[in-house]
Amino acid sequence: MVEACCLLTAFVFIFSGFTKAVDPQGGAIKIGEYLNTFGLSISDDGVLLQLLSVLESTFEFVLGVHLLLGLRRKIASVLSFVMMLFMTVLTLYIYVTGKISDCGCFGEALHLSNRDTFLKNILLLAFTTVTLFFPDRIVSVLNKGPHRGVQLYSLLFVLLVSLWSYHYLPLVDYRPYYIGQDIPGAMSIPAGAQAPQYKTTFILEKNGERKEFTLDNYPDSTWKFIDSRTEEVSPGYKPEIYDFAVFSDKDEEVTHDILHQKNYFFWLIFPRVETTDNGEIDAIGDIYDYCRRYNYGICGLTSSSHQAAEAWEHSAGIRFPFYYADETMLKTMIRSNPGVMLVKNGKILNKWGKNALPDEDSLTSALGKLSLTYGNVSHGMTSTIKWLLLFFIPLIFRIFAGRISVSLRNRRKKRANNIIGKQDLIKNNNTMRKKIVAGNWKMNMNLQDGVALAKEINEVCKADKPACGVIICTPFIHLASVAAILDQNVVALGAENCADKEKGAYTGEVSAEMVKSTGAQYVILGHSERRQYYNETPEILKNKVALALKNNLKVIFCCGETLEEREAGKQNEVVKAELEGSVFNLSAEEWKNIVLAYEPIWAIGTGKTATADQAEEMLAYIRSIVADKYGKQAAEDTTILYGGSCKPSNAPELFSKPDIDGGLIGGASLKAADFKGIIDAWKK
Ligand code: 13P
Repeated sequence: MVEACCLLTAFVFIFSGFTKAVDPQGGAIKIGEYLNTFGLSISDDGVLLQLLSVLESTFEFVLGVHLLLGLRRKIASVLSFVMMLFMTVLTLYIYVTGKISDCGCFGEALHLSNRDTFLKNILLLAFTTVTLFFPDRIVSVLNKGPHRGVQLYSLLFVLLVSLWSYHYLPLVDYRPYYIGQDIPGAMSIPAGAQAPQYKTTFILEKNGERKEFTLDNYPDSTWKFIDSRTEEVSPGYKPEIYDFAVFSDKDEEVTHDILHQKNYFFWLIFPRVETTDNGEIDAIGDIYDYCRRYNYGICGLTSSSHQAAEAWEHSAGIRFPFYYADETMLKTMIRSNPGVMLVKNGKILNKWGKNALPDEDSLTSALGKLSLTYGNVSHGMTSTIKWLLLFFIPLIFRIFAGRISVSLRNRRKKRANNIIGKQDLIKNNNTMRKKIVAGNWKMNMNLQDGVALAKEINEVCKADKPACGVIICTPFIHLASVAAILDQNVVALGAENCADKEKGAYTGEVSAEMVKSTGAQYVILGHSERRQYYNETPEILKNKVALALKNNLKVIFCCGETLEEREAGKQNEVVKAELEGSVFNLSAEEWKNIVLAYEPIWAIGTGKTATADQAEEMLAYIRSIVADKYGKQAAEDTTILYGGSCKPSNAPELFSKPDIDGGLIGGASLKAADFKGIIDAWKK
């Protein structure tokens, strides 16, 4: 259920992030519309909105990939929830006020009504609420290692798509003016269907006074044209293109004329001629000369005033007929100012953005002999699927390659582990780190019960040889008696603590030397219960570790974070500080006698085990910092255990993870059968 919610949200985010990324200018226009409803008027041609648009689509896409692959699950689920909460409130607002007719949540790829968008967002909000509460149940697809690479790959992919689309034209054209489109065909209404009615409003100015006019009351030429807009006044059958209308400088409609030119016709589109990029004047001049040479049609299309068009012609030193149309329509036709369309008989043969205009180097002979008359048709859902597949295929390969290499590595290790004996637990032979299951009895068992339990464990392990090293760590009072009955080639013995002083007047303390003299080989140090209840600081622990090693005891050194620290995402930081504070001072030689145990405090004795993925993630991290400190080989050779509510039922999954080398077991080590059940997980 959690996974289903997460996957659905992920797919929606990836799809909507991509459809927006291919059209950053469309995104900027939409953000501008939203801001406008709150009284903020910012030009969608400016850098700010373009940047916001790229950031928004990038964020959505990358977040979708995180959810899909189960990367940074906690933060990804919080961010998706916050985002959906914001979007739901926003779409409720536009649904109620009707201030925006199309939410734009899938760019131009899919248009939903405000009501449908709101319902969709409610559903996604419910999904993200589920993942918010159970982020740990999101399946993490990647084993370890490639997380960063995958994050970077998705970030680079979506950014490149955005930047390419911004620099040239949208990578996928969702708008009806795509290359190959037959505009008159896309405008036609089937016989008998009712056509929607539109009203075009013109904004004109005279003596500083601005007024709106329609075609019916259009005033004389003493009024200066400022702007125009076309609105639907009564609905009807809406063809794919319904708003294409072009006017001459006398305000006569010339739509039919320009759509039915039998010869090649270059439309130079300047949504607003005042803000057009004049760096392209030379290329426009080349197109103009070319049209004159071969007798092809050429015209300008703009939503600006006649005066502005004339001013542009004057400054460019080029003259061709200018026609006038709605700004939104022109921006829908081409996301560039200026942009060029090559049209014949109303069919779009090619499109160029301002950064890739054809120039004298490409306009070398008649169009029939050039490849310019058939641009790359890349529009609609098929193209979207193609691009998304292009994104996913390397990712799928990476995931499978990772899985195969991990399972091969595991198999090799298992085989080697079975071949190498289990007795000499800390014999560093550069080939294999030891698998260990260690019991920590804590403050349980009187002497008689403890000896009986040790005897039972010893017997079951001798009868059925473990596939891993076994250690029992007992209270001090048991050590000598248990040492006497254990076969330490099968079950080794350890203490749960030792003093931070060598010897002397420290009433009640037991030194490392004393522990060693009982016959014990190990000592647990740094356990969270000792840190918490007996105020053992990193400094004290550092002394204890030094004394234990000096007395030839091997150290099982524990680290782990509290629930609050994990919730604040500080687990790596905490664990690193614990290791740095007490054991990272050791020499490489001393390090060979250290076993690490990661025990998240929130999982100790609570029945709340860390998931195998969580434990693996932490152990892989710990191994990586050991590698930073002692080198890769030493890290590979270091045994790292997981501890915290480990039981026979969850041990096999935990131990199947490549970085988990066994367990440090509390409660379940007090019953021989349970302890043996965990030991046997290494045989599965
Ligand atoms: P539990 O297995 O009882 O959770 O205890 C873990 C532990 O603290 C081992 O040192």
